[in-house]
Amino acid sequence: MATPTIIVIYGASGDLTHRKLMPALYNLWLKKRLPDPFFVIGLGRTDYSNTDFRQEMREAVAEFAAKVFTEEVWADFEGMLHYLSGNFTGPDPYPALTSKLAELENERQSNRLFYLAMPPRFYEPIINQLGEFDLVREEDEDETGCWRRVIIEKPFGRDLQSAQDLNVSIHQHLLEHQIYRIDHYLAKETVQNMMVFRFGNSIFEPLWNRNFIDHVQITAMETVDVGRRASYYDQAGVMRDMFQNHLMQLFSIVAMEPPSSRRAEALRNEKVKVLAAVRRLSEEEVPANTVRAQYEGYLTSDGVPADSTTPTYAAVQLYVDNWRWQGVPFYLRSGKALASKLTEITIQFKSAPVMLFAQKRRVPGNTLTLTIQPDEGIHLRMEAKVPDTLSDLQPVNMHFHYDDAFDDAPIPEAYERLLSDAIKGDASLFTRDDEVELSWKIIDPIMTAWRHSQTQPLTEYVKGSWGPVEADRFLAETGRAWVNGAHRRHIVHP
Ligand code: BG6
Repeated sequence: MATPTIIVIYGASGDLTHRKLMPALYNLWLKKRLPDPFFVIGLGRTDYSNTDFRQEMREAVAEFAAKVFTEEVWADFEGMLHYLSGNFTGPDPYPALTSKLAELENERQSNRLFYLAMPPRFYEPIINQLGEFDLVREEDEDETGCWRRVIIEKPFGRDLQSAQDLNVSIHQHLLEHQIYRIDHYLAKETVQNMMVFRFGNSIFEPLWNRNFIDHVQITAMETVDVGRRASYYDQAGVMRDMFQNHLMQLFSIVAMEPPSSRRAEALRNEKVKVLAAVRRLSEEEVPANTVRAQYEGYLTSDGVPADSTTPTYAAVQLYVDNWRWQGVPFYLRSGKALASKLTEITIQFKSAPVMLFAQKRRVPGNTLTLTIQPDEGIHLRMEAKVPDTLSDLQPVNMHFHYDDAFDDAPIPEAYERLLSDAIKGDASLFTRDDEVELSWKIIDPIMTAWRHSQTQPLTEYVKGSWGPVEADRFLAETGRAWVNGAHRRHIVHP
């Protein structure tokens, strides 16, 4: 009999399990990408029976799974789902969990994946319990060969010190190879395609450096405001919620050197090198290199203190002090309650050194935009001669859209890939301890300077706008402008 694999989900009655994890498991199961036998044990405080839990998950999967939902298929799937209630940050329910594992293992050993879909303050106590109850110790290979892995959600720490403390604490029970720190941006198809774009084609990489590139923009905008997540968000703000993790990951993939292989360690080493080469901002330098803002009305959201200074938008200029990038600014920005849901990376090439064609407008360099979402694709803007004129130029776009090119292969949810990789033991799309700490080293000084700053006010922006005017000025002062939405078809950007 094949070794069973069991996934134990902490926070099984929560939002992440409903919207992402269970639909992803269901899709993987339909694609026959889950091991067999496979079991799910949901853990939560809500007092569900197995039947209640299955019913709840049935509704979630019917609503959120990309794959077609039918009652017959569900009836087969739901047999794998089990539930235990209790407070799993303390010891009391662990004997019940241990017996449940033994019951499903049925006198065999199993591979175990623990998924902490819980608020960050619970990571440490839960991993302590897993250690105390001996649920995560891996036997020697030659004994059972079974693995024990733990997936930890973001944010990993609140700052550098707490991330370091958390790493030390969880390493008491887990070896680094057992820890899978999630950043779901890494598993987006379009983010993985950035590596194929850079290293699977030969014509882009020779241009990917300070000789040809003027600057890089990395944008992650959202239309949603903080909504019901206000009490979490007010503690996090845009730097902890988006910059320290998602934006730093996008940045390191754009800026890293080619890895020597596709192995997880090779890729992680390159990302770490680029993060280590980022020039640290001193407290005095922060005001000139950052913008922070809050959307109008944020202070009246439920759960937000009336005097909160948490930024819901930030823009940051970074430099990378290495041979490839010396002198090329990277502009990173992210915010809530903005005009468009848009995650995009724009590579702005330098202008042509000599313009043979006299033009009334300034002719910028080529722009390459990698649209991560929505309407995923890649766009290259270039100059073209307007027909039947002597030499008038007009910018035009070359487009690649996923839905045109791959209409038979819809883009899967990032969580499918992450769960499947963690089960296979491929950690390439998860962050390593030193990587998390290095990204805090970049973000921490900015947050500290903002806390102390008398000179850099927190500004406001209108909900539904493209962000604060200060962010436009910030770039305009360098002679540059933000690119907002090259993904939209048939729009030519001036
Ligand atoms: C999460 C943040 O990690 O990413 C959210 O906590 C944010 O605030 C979300 O909305 C954005 O993810 P995506 O995949 O919708 O871009």
